[in-house]
Order: sequence, then structure tokens, then C-alpha cells
Amino acid sequence: MARVSSVVVGLILASTLRISVSQSDPQAEIKRLKNVISALGRQVMLQQFAQEEKLRSDGWSGLKQIRVDNDGPRNYHTNSHSGGSMGAIHDHSNNQITVGQGEGQFVLNGVEFRTRHNDYQLRMPSPKSSAYHVMSEIPFPPVPRQVLDKPSVQEQIVEMREWFKAWRDQNSSVRDYRPYFKPLLCYLEGAWTTNTKELEEPFFSDRHSLDATSWFDLQERVRYSAYTGRKSLDENFAYLPTAIINITDSGVPVYAQWNYRMLCHPLYKDLPTSYLKPVDDLSVRLPRGQTLEQYLTTRGARFSVVGPNDKPNWQYLDDMMGEVPGKDNYGANITDSTFGMKLLHPAPGNDSRFNVGFYHRRYRVEKADAMGLSYGRRGYSDPNIFMAETTQEKIAEFYIKQCSATKVCYESKKRMSYSIPLEIIYLTPLSTWNPYDIPFYSNKDKNIVLSNGKRNGGLNINNAFNGSLYNQFYRTPIQFFSGGEVGSTAADTVKGSVGVLDKNNTIRSMSASGVRIFLPNIPGVGVLRTRYPITPVHAEGSSVWKELNALKDIVLKLASYERLLTEKIPRTPEVKPIASSPTPQRTTPKLVTSTSTALPKTSTTLTPKYPIQQQLTLMTTTIFQNPPGEHYHTIEMTKDEQERLQKGEVVDLITSQDNAHSHAVKVQFYNGRYHVTKCDSKAIPCWDGHTSCLMKEGERGCPIDNGLP
Ligand SMILES: *[C@@H]1O[C@H](CO)[C@@H](O)[C@H](O)[C@H]1NC(C)=O
Ligand SMILES: *[C@@H]1O[C@H](CO)[C@@H](O)[C@H](O)[C@H]1NC(C)=O
Ligand SMILES: *[C@@H]1O[C@H](CO)[C@@H](O)[C@H](O)[C@H]1NC(C)=O
Ligand SMILES: *[C@@H]1O[C@H](CO)[C@@H](O)[C@H](O)[C@H]1NC(C)=O
Ligand SMILES: *[C@@H]1O[C@H](CO)[C@@H](O)[C@H](O)[C@H]1NC(C)=O
Ligand SMILES: *[C@@H]1O[C@H](CO)[C@@H](O)[C@H](O)[C@H]1NC(C)=O
Repeated sequence: MARVSSVVVGLILASTLRISVSQSDPQAEIKRLKNVISALGRQVMLQQFAQEEKLRSDGWSGLKQIRVDNDGPRNYHTNSHSGGSMGAIHDHSNNQITVGQGEGQFVLNGVEFRTRHNDYQLRMPSPKSSAYHVMSEIPFPPVPRQVLDKPSVQEQIVEMREWFKAWRDQNSSVRDYRPYFKPLLCYLEGAWTTNTKELEEPFFSDRHSLDATSWFDLQERVRYSAYTGRKSLDENFAYLPTAIINITDSGVPVYAQWNYRMLCHPLYKDLPTSYLKPVDDLSVRLPRGQTLEQYLTTRGARFSVVGPNDKPNWQYLDDMMGEVPGKDNYGANITDSTFGMKLLHPAPGNDSRFNVGFYHRRYRVEKADAMGLSYGRRGYSDPNIFMAETTQEKIAEFYIKQCSATKVCYESKKRMSYSIPLEIIYLTPLSTWNPYDIPFYSNKDKNIVLSNGKRNGGLNINNAFNGSLYNQFYRTPIQFFSGGEVGSTAADTVKGSVGVLDKNNTIRSMSASGVRIFLPNIPGVGVLRTRYPITPVHAEGSSVWKELNALKDIVLKLASYERLLTEKIPRTPEVKPIASSPTPQRTTPKLVTSTSTALPKTSTTLTPKYPIQQQLTLMTTTIFQNPPGEHYHTIEMTKDEQERLQKGEVVDLITSQDNAHSHAVKVQFYNGRYHVTKCDSKAIPCWDGHTSCLMKEGERGCPIDNGLP
């Protein structure tokens, strides 16, 4: 030890000495300082790398965390990757091609980043152009001929329901639904880009964009936000790291900027819904008191793709992701023969040329001397990371030169992008079905539809929308559904129906035709899910979660795994044997467990429709005027607040924030219902039109008020 420190002291002395000597030689001094800076730059680069290496082993590529809004006494009362909604997905179904997805913290190949509020559009890489980030719109499936051939709208509705039933049952014998219900594989793609100066919007959303002028500006804002706790009200900040990725021979650091985007690929083949297997998150189910069956009918549920012929070294997801190109778009044609070793297609028994311009997580290596074959994975312990090579100059390049023992040297330059799947979205014929022939206008003609905001979807000739727009996309007759929207949460923009004028100026009551997580109930068919989140979860790759899943399986499937217990369950006569398969419950989900369901005695003779619950969520009416744009709010009430309200007290509450505002409301309970009696200190309606009506999930409106409390 002593010897080591004396060596260090000696080194320091020697270097100080050298400084005093070299001061007489400015050239040598500059050279030395350049070396010092270059070495420091390299050390910074290695530190970023060390951070990534740590994340790579902490877990695998996936979603880490969504924004936390509510909390409670147990840690699972706060959001993780899910909560009320897996990956913060929600509906914006009044938009033609926008799917709702909030902010998220992701890890992709060791890079941790936070997105803005995503609300991405249904777009795919260009099938024609290979230029950087050129995209095309995804084609929507047509309406079955058998529907269009029906003479009346009512008959079309009846026939259309049959197609939804065929899809629900995956029964193609009479109605082959497959050309009309098309699965999209939506994915997250990230890469190190070379443009470190100008801000590059990750991807277009008609609802959100980064609120900054340059990368530097964005970094300053997100740092300010993190250190002071002030969020971007519009959720338009993102944390996207900058890194040093190389130090040139002359000692200059080369920077790269992380960026990401979300887009979709229309799968070539049908994806049977039976391949989408639920993943059970107890931290979602327990606080909401959901059985597994109930959980599956909520937005909190997530899934994974499990094909019938999945093998440990090849899964159906590999086939699906293999259809998705990297940044060279669908024309990608790249082979990899780095170090004189050719990469071959990894699927067992596939000897075709391997195009690494498409996403893959495995490969096969053929040695040049044909002396052997070996299998490889992209990533040391990350089964989720899909990679694709690209030739885009805007993607940072990684370089290596390697010489073998026989002095044969190979040089390799590669540009990569990384990907994980996000969700499967089934497009349905509702996106193109237009039985009332509602005209569609481009945004420049929006005032035909909106009359400068006077038309807000009301059910009369003066207020009904006159036609449809990309973000007023109401073309499904409301009669097709019964009941309201399903599982609506705060970030949604659609509820119920709006009035729309057809070409003959007849008012039609219409429902939104964009993408939804759950379609409202279709009579005779039920509630159908069209969005299946399959995003992997970062922490699931940790050893702790592996142990946790094993434990979950033992506890939740005790009948199967009882023999693994180290202490047997005593079987006394009082203990009933555990049923091996619980009877599935077909009830509609209650989002909150009510531990005390006893009805409180109220002075009115009305039977309250509102038993006091652990937590109650109510919704305001939806308003359609623009600004602030179509929205409604939710109001959360604790058990204590419900008790006070039902005793007749007035309670002050704050609505959820939607379309960048919330309301401070006074709520009262009378005539067996909750009502807003004051909004932002003024009489109702609120400044933007919400009335006194407060609804439960699934309710479509309030009875007409007969007088105040
Ligand atoms: C499939 O649908 C047809 C038409 O509705 C029906 O006749 C047939 O029984 C169904 N097949 C199965 C296996 O359910
Ligand atoms: C990275 O640095 C090496 C020298 O260490 C240099 O040869 C190479 O050209 C650099 N690559 C880029 C992309 O700047
Ligand atoms: C891909 O490139 C190879 C040569 O590098 C060429 O032979 C092949 O035809 C190309 N394939 C396509 C589909 O363009
Ligand atoms: C091998 O892979 C290629 C490219 O993904 C695919 O087109 C082909 O169908 C596969 N062949 C077999 C036998 O799986
Ligand atoms: C709706 O728009 C059409 C086309 O511009 C117009 O002819 C019609 O008069 C409008 N209807 C009403 C009620 O304003
Ligand atoms: C509009 O009126 C004409 C004439 O009555 C009729 O032929 C047409 O079907 C109507 N269009 C719609 C969309 O109702």
C-alpha cells in the first residue's frame, strides 16, 4: 500500500516537473493539453457506456414507468408501467389516424429516455422511398361487399354486426373476416442520430410536439422541470440523452443525439387473437379488486404474443418483427459479413440470405472457412432487443478495426437502430364505413364543418357538424353500438354521440370512427378490444422479477404447484379444497373494490345508485366546442368525501386535467345523484360548457334535473 502511494506521488511530481519544463515550449504544451482533453473526453464517453451497461443488466429493453398521478397507502397504488392504463394508452377516436398514448420512460439497449405525450399517428415506413424517415399512411381495410350491398342503413348495421361477430369468434367459415380486420404491429424505434444541433421532432402528432427550439433548449427545460418539479402542462417535454460516441484521432469528441419514434407495420398475415396471451400484473389487479377476467376488460391489462409453434430459439414475434424494416425503409437490402463471417438467417432451417436491414434479435454466423456455425443474439442478456442495420448518414456510425493472429485486418462500420414492439392494433371496417355518406373535408375547409366553432356536434341543424374532418371523424351511426364508450379515462376525447349533417342537411347521430382500445358494446356481439399492448417491461428482465413471477405462479396456481411448497397446507375439515379452475365471471368490471358496500341511510326515500365505495370516479359531460377542443374530465372522490356528500355537505373538488385545463368545482348530492353546483367559482355551466351532470362509467347522460337541492 505504502509503495503504491509513493509511486503515485512520484508520478504527480514527475508530471508537475514536466509542466514547468514544457512551459518554455508552447507547442509541446498544447499537444500535451490536447492529449489530456482527449483522454477526459474518452473517459466521459466510457462513463455513459458504463451507465448503459448497468441498465442492460438491471433489466431488459422495455417500458419502465409511466407518469404517476394518484397515490395511496401501498406502493402499488401508484402507476408502474401500468395502472389504470398499460403504457398510458387512451383513446382519441374522434381522430382519423391518431392513437392515444401518454408519456413513458423506456429503456432501449441500455439507453434510458422519457418520451413526450406521444399520441402517435398510424404511419408506416415508406414502401417506395428509402430516404430518411419518409413514411406513408397505413391503408385502412375496406368494408365487406355484403355490407355495402344492403339497401338500407339499418340492414347494413345488422350485416356489419355479423362481421364483428365472425371476428370475435375468429370464425371465417361463412364470413371471412380476415381482409377486413387487419392487424398492425406498432413499435418503438430508437437510434443515436448525428444531428446534434437542430431539434428533430421524433414524429408527427396532431396533438403534441416538443416544446423547445433546439436539443440544448430541450435539455435545459427538462432539467429545469426535474429540479423544480414544474411539469410541461401540455406534456411536451422529453428526456432524450446526448452522448459522446467517438473521439477522433485528433482528440475531438463526436456527439450523438438519442431520438425515438413510434410507428406501425401492417402485418402480412392475419394474427389470430388467440396468440395474444394475457400477462397478469397483480399490482394493477389488487388495488382495483379485479379478477383476471375483469382485468382483461380494462385498459390496465397487457399481453404477449405466443405462437402455437414457438420454440426457445424462434418465436412468432421473430416472424412478425422480421417484416419490419429499420431506417432504410422497406427497400432495405443489407448483408453483414463483418470479420469475414457472414450472418445467416437465424430461423431454424432457413438458408436464405439474411437481410439485416429488417428487425431481428438473433442471427447465425458462418465462418469464412466453413469450419463452423454458431448462433448469436443481439444483446448479452436482453431477449427483447430487436436491431436493424441502416445506411442512413443521419444515424451515428460505429467503427472497429480488428486484426487476427495471422495479421489479416478487418474494418467495419455500422449504423444501427433498435426496436421493441408496442402494441397490436386491429383495424376494422369502421374506419372506412360511411353509410350516411358524410362528406370529408381537408383541414383548410374546416369552417364548413365547424363554422368557426359554432358547430360543436349538437343535435340540431345549427350546432351539428356539417361533414367530417381528420379530427372530427364521426361517421359510424350510433345505432351500431348501444351503451356509451367503455372504460373511459381522463385523457380520452370521446364520449357518446354527436350530431352530424349529411349531404341532404339531415341530422345524423354519429359515433367516432377512429381507433379505440375497446369498441362500445355492439348488440349481440359485446364489447371488443382492438388494441393489445404487448410492450415488454424493463424490470421483468431483472432477477428479482424472475423470482417474483415464479412465486406468483406458485401462489396463483396453488392447485398445480402445491407439491413445490416446502410446508404442506394443513387440511382441516374447515379448509375447503382450492378449486383448480375458478368459474369465469362475466360481470362488468367494477374498477374499485368496495370493502364496505353497506348503503348509507339518507334522508331521501330514493334508493341511492351510489353505494359508498373505496374510491369513486365520475365523469363530466363531454363538450365539443373548439377551443378548447372536445373533452370531458373525471372527478375522483374518496370514501370520506362520498360520505360527507351523501350527508348533504358541499365538497370542493378538482377535476382531472384535460386539453390543458381543469376546473375547481363544488359538488353536491341530491335526487340520488352527484351534481356540479359551481364551476371555477361561477354558476354552471362551466366556461367551456360542462353542465351539472356527473356520470358513472358507462352511463350516457343524466336525467333532466327537476330542481336544485
Ligand atoms: C361459424 O359461423 C357460422 C355462421 O355464423 C356458423 O354457422 C358456424 O356454426 C360457426 N362455426 C363455429 C365453429 O362456431
Ligand atoms: C472514431 O475515431 C477513430 C479513431 O479513434 C477514427 O478512426 C474514426 O474515423 C472515428 N469515427 C467517426 C465516425 O468519427
Ligand atoms: C440486394 O443486393 C444484392 C447485392 O448486394 C442484389 O444481388 C440483390 O438483388 C438485392 N436484392 C434486392 C431485393 O434488391
Ligand atoms: C427464410 O427467411 C426469408 C426472409 O425472412 C423468408 O422470406 C423465407 O420465407 C424463409 N424461408 C423459410 C423456409 O422459412
Ligand atoms: C353544409 O355544407 C354544405 C357544403 O358547403 C352546404 O351546401 C350546406 O348549406 C351546409 N349546411 C348548412 C346547414 O349550413
Ligand atoms: C339525399 O336525398 C336524395 C333525394 O331525396 C336521396 O336520393 C339520397 O339518398 C339522400 N342522401 C342521403 C345521404 O340520405
